[in-house]
Amino acid sequence: MPTLATEVDGLKFKNPFVIASGPPGTNLNVINRAFREGWGGVIAKTVSLDSTKVVNVSPRYGKLHANDKKEVIGWENIELISDRPFSIWLEEFKKAKDTNPDGILIASIMEEYNRDAWIEIVERCQDVGVDSFELNFSCPHGLPERKMGAAMGQDPDVLGEVCGWVMSAAKIPVWAKMTPNITHIEEPARKAFESGCQGVAAINTIRSVIGVNLETLRPEPSVEGYTTPGGYSSKAVRPIALRMCMELAQLIKKEFPGRSLSGMGGVETGEDAAQFILLGSDTVQVCTGVMKFGYGMVKDLCEGLLGFMESHKFETLADFKGHSLAYFTTHADLVKRQQERKAAQKAVEESKMVKADGEWSGDDFVKQSDALSR
Ligand SMILES: Cc1cc2nc3c(=O)[nH]c(=O)nc-3n(C[C@H](O)[C@H](O)[C@H](O)COP(=O)(O)O)c2cc1C
Repeated sequence: MPTLATEVDGLKFKNPFVIASGPPGTNLNVINRAFREGWGGVIAKTVSLDSTKVVNVSPRYGKLHANDKKEVIGWENIELISDRPFSIWLEEFKKAKDTNPDGILIASIMEEYNRDAWIEIVERCQDVGVDSFELNFSCPHGLPERKMGAAMGQDPDVLGEVCGWVMSAAKIPVWAKMTPNITHIEEPARKAFESGCQGVAAINTIRSVIGVNLETLRPEPSVEGYTTPGGYSSKAVRPIALRMCMELAQLIKKEFPGRSLSGMGGVETGEDAAQFILLGSDTVQVCTGVMKFGYGMVKDLCEGLLGFMESHKFETLADFKGHSLAYFTTHADLVKRQQERKAAQKAVEESKMVKADGEWSGDDFVKQSDALSR
C-alpha cells in the first residue's frame, strides 16, 4: 500500500494536500474543519498587522462557466487579504495548533515595504506556534496599490530584500509565494532562494477581467457600476500553473537542490495533483476547488492520488516527484529528435529492400515486393 505521508522542509504532512491561502482558511472554524476532514496542511488567509486598512467590497467574485452553463471553469476575485484583526488571528493560530497538533498550520503574511513591520509580523506569528510561513508576494489586485503583494513579487530586488528581513527573524521554514503576472517566474524565485527561503509556492491568481455584461455594458464583478481587474483561478489556469511550476522545479533542480516547491492552480482531483508532483511539487495546494466542492474533497484527492500511485507501483511521493521534468527540451531539439527518428526508420525500411534474388526472405516477402514496386 503506497503512502501519501511526506516530509517537506522538516514539516511532517500526513498527505501533500494543503488548503491554499484564501476563504477556505479564513478563520478558526474553517481551519479546524479542514483539519477534521483530513487536509495535510492549512495555509490561513493572508494576515497583516493593521487590518483596518483592508476594506473589502461586494460582489467580489465573477465566474466563467463551460458551455453547459453548469460547470465553473474560471473564477475571478477582487478579494483583499484578511480584514480580521491581527490580535484575533494570533489567538486563533494558537487555538488551531492546540486543537490540531499534528496538522501543519502555515501563516500567510504580507506587509508594506518596511523592515520593522515584517520582522514584527514574523516574530508575533511564530511566538504563537505556527509551523511555517508563506510570504504573499503575489496578490494581483488592491494590495499593489499600496506597493504590496504582486507589486513586490514583480520586483526581484525588493522581494529578495524583504525575504532577507524575514529570514533574519524566522525560526521556522519560509515559502515565498510567487506571482504568475511576470514574464520569468524564475527571477523572483532565485532571489527568494538566495535570501535563504526554504521553498517557493506558485501560482497565485492571474490578473484578469472575467467579462463585460452585454445588457448593462459594465465590466464584472460590478461594484457600484465599476470594477477593477482581479485574480483568475480554478481549472482554466491549470496549464499555466503547471508550466510555471515546471520552470520553478527546473530552477530548483539546477541551482537550489533540496529546496521545496508547493504547486497550485486549478487542482480538483488526485490526478491533477499527480501532474504537479510529476513536475516537481512537494505539496499541492487547493483554494477555488474547496469553494466549488467543499472540504470533503480531500478524501477524493487522496484516493485519486493513491490510485495513480498504485497503477504505477509507486510507494512514496518521492518515487515520482519531478519524474516528467526530464522530458522538456527546446523546439530545436524536438526537430532534431524527429529527424533522427525518421532517418532511422528509413534506414530500417531500406535495409529490408532486396538487392539480389538471394536476399528474398519468407518473413518480409510482402514488404520486399512492395518496396520493389515503388
Ligand atoms: C477568493 C480568493 C481569495 C484568495 N485570497 C488569497 C490570499 O489571501 N492570499 C493568497 O496568498 N492567495 C489568495 N488567493 C489565491 C489562492 O491561494 C491560489 O493561489 C489561487 O487561487 C490558485 O489556486 P486555485 O486555482 O486552487 O484557487 C485567493 C484566491 C481566491 C479565489
